[in-house]
Amino acid sequence: MLDERVSAVLARLEEEDRIEREAGVPASQRSRQVAPSTGRLLFALAATQAGVEVLEIGASRGYSSIWLAAGARVLGGRLLSLEHDPVKCAAWRANVGAAGLAEWAELVEGDAFATLREIDDVFDVVFLDAEKDDYEQLFALARPLLEPGGLVVADNVTSHAETLAAYSAARQADPTLSSVTVPLDRGLELTTALA
Ligand SMILES: C[S@@+](CC[C@H](N)C(=O)[O-])C[C@H]1O[C@@H](n2cnc3c(N)ncnc32)[C@H](O)[C@@H]1O
Repeated sequence: MLDERVSAVLARLEEEDRIEREAGVPASQRSRQVAPSTGRLLFALAATQAGVEVLEIGASRGYSSIWLAAGARVLGGRLLSLEHDPVKCAAWRANVGAAGLAEWAELVEGDAFATLREIDDVFDVVFLDAEKDDYEQLFALARPLLEPGGLVVADNVTSHAETLAAYSAARQADPTLSSVTVPLDRGLELTTALA
């Protein structure tokens, strides 16, 4: 059972997303959040390791961030989230605060192509969920920040296969990585750094 504040904010964000989709709000103005079962998987991946350091690229209003931060909190880890849309950043701060997770999660506001280059830290889990055309370049920027054994989870690899099949193929062909496509929800590529 998840903590009540976390569950309440997740449920509200799911309802807001449902209403906005039904109302035909354009994707650019919606949160474009992961499916709840993907969120639960992110929680599980973040919760397994003591002191886990998690990086999220593409945070939107904080739905996936809340799953990741709640997972990281289990064994004293932390989440660093990157987002460039100021309206979404304001919503992220309100939602993560309402979930009681502000102590476990930090938002860096700005273009990930710039902010990733300024990060002086290494990570155990990276969640990649920005624009699909940018995955290859964002992965290249995140790769040096991965600890050996570190995991990159990329969303939408089957829902956007026309763009992201090449991303999955490149990860699966790289001898420094082990990578598998997991057919959950919109498709996740789980990539482990071997060194
Ligand atoms: C699919 S949504 C993320 C949804 C979020 N992970 C969730 O499940 O709640 C993609 C987000 O990435 C952000 N984004 C896209 N390109 C970015 C960039 N270069 N730097 C920072 N944020 C970016 C968008 O503003 C958008 O909020």
